[in-house]
Amino acid sequence: MRESPHPLPDITTITLDENKGAVFQSPLQEEGADNKVVDPCVVVIFGATGDLTSRKLFPALYNLARDGQLPSHFACVGFARREKTHEQFRGEMQKAVGEFSRVKPLDENLWSSFNNQIYYHSSNFDDDKGYDDLRTFLEQLDKEHGTKGNRVFYLSTQPRYFPLIIEHLGKRGLIYDTGKVKDKWSRVIIEKPFGHDYSSAIELQQFVLNHLAESQIYRIDHYLGKETVQNLLVFRFGNSIFESIWNNHYIDHVQITVGEEIGIGTRGAFFEEAGILRDIVQNHMMQLLSLTAMEPPSSLSADAIRDEKVKVLKALRPLDMERFSEQVVRGQYGPGYVDGEDAIGYRQENNVDPHSSIETFTALKLYIDNWRWSGVPFYLRAGKRLPKRATEIAITFKGVPGVLFSQNEKKTEHNVLVIRIQPDEGISLRMNCKVPGPSSPIQPVKMDFRYSSYFGLTPPEAYERLIYDCMLGDGTLFARGDEVLTSWKWITPVLDRWHESAPSDFPNYPSGTWGPQAADEMLARDGREWRLI
Ligand code: BG6
Repeated sequence: MRESPHPLPDITTITLDENKGAVFQSPLQEEGADNKVVDPCVVVIFGATGDLTSRKLFPALYNLARDGQLPSHFACVGFARREKTHEQFRGEMQKAVGEFSRVKPLDENLWSSFNNQIYYHSSNFDDDKGYDDLRTFLEQLDKEHGTKGNRVFYLSTQPRYFPLIIEHLGKRGLIYDTGKVKDKWSRVIIEKPFGHDYSSAIELQQFVLNHLAESQIYRIDHYLGKETVQNLLVFRFGNSIFESIWNNHYIDHVQITVGEEIGIGTRGAFFEEAGILRDIVQNHMMQLLSLTAMEPPSSLSADAIRDEKVKVLKALRPLDMERFSEQVVRGQYGPGYVDGEDAIGYRQENNVDPHSSIETFTALKLYIDNWRWSGVPFYLRAGKRLPKRATEIAITFKGVPGVLFSQNEKKTEHNVLVIRIQPDEGISLRMNCKVPGPSSPIQPVKMDFRYSSYFGLTPPEAYERLIYDCMLGDGTLFARGDEVLTSWKWITPVLDRWHESAPSDFPNYPSGTWGPQAADEMLARDGREWRLI
């Protein structure tokens, strides 16, 4: 591995203030955020016995503690229905962090002080008394830990509980009126999915706005917390060489892939209500699409960036329902082989209907009707049980005129810029090159930048950055209400169409393959093919 020329990446610097916690400076933070420090606060996690809490949220909090980015006056409370003691919960979280933290092994000294900041509160989500008790308990923690009444409420429950919890928090005075209360704050992180279609998202949006100011709402899309996703803005707008060719004059088409090797595993019940379109496309892929296609924002303020992203979503051409099957493909995995092992089909997974019509794969072709992108197709594909885990954005540039290198042996290939979001995070550019020697055939070569070999660091997990930003009060990396609604508005007709007609060919791709044949045909009709990843 080549040694990094810098001891630390110079895109992010961290300084520590003993009393106040970490000062974290990053190019993608609200203006002025680099001068802010994280206020003392309590983070309350609803749904604390769920997978997300143990796999992602506690490992993230632990790593924030490890990196000195938690405020020194801090506590965290797990809220869930199951009865358990603080000690039991602490033990479970210690085990989870040991297993899932990006940094191993667990630092026992650090854990023993972090451990004392962890608590558990058991209550049903609809129990008034549970919230009264929570309020009293939080006030007690303010005294013990100096957390000054500041709260982050993290809703990591099933989506149907979001309104109930928000209503109870409001009724019990746990959400502060931003117009009146100035000396402390309360913020709510809402996990995805925010609604399950356009009308339910509008309903949820109206509901939350009755209880919270927009500035108190942090709609999470964890893709926005990924380093490589944030780097899209720096890459596009921090380098002068790309902006002038980032348009329909030079770009032939764009492919965005979110592939996963894993199947549904224990999440059958969830997935039966979601499907890949709701689970991955409506949120994560629409974020990747809008960051790739947006115009330069006027500043790095949360709203300036989000305004530009929304404009992209608003410019998405509505689907032509007459030619639906040419633009939209759905698939479901059947039995097959992944990583050399037998894999069961989706319909054989736990908690899945043996005749399920839920899609585990989709491919879409869409157009952004604005000056920059007019005529450039964006092909999106997302799927479970594909041959490998790979998320990437591939920009294929137009070919050179066939004047000089048109004979067979000298043919040139299109330049392709690939932004690898994960794994093997990096960016590569395919170029044509003359092979040394007198016969001079042309060969495509790759210029490749790899985060791991250049920076030599494991990038922080998305949830670390997002929890940190919420504590800081910076919404740049969270989805705004209109963003979410605009995305649902485009997606919902697809859901409706699928709902009207059950698929006759499911399962239509074996586990361990790149989806149904119809996805390849969609590109073949345009004279293109999916990139081999
Ligand atoms: C979640 C989806 O939002 O993202 C999961 O619900 C998916 O189905 C996961 O597996 C992928 O996240 P990541 O960070 O592993 O790409």
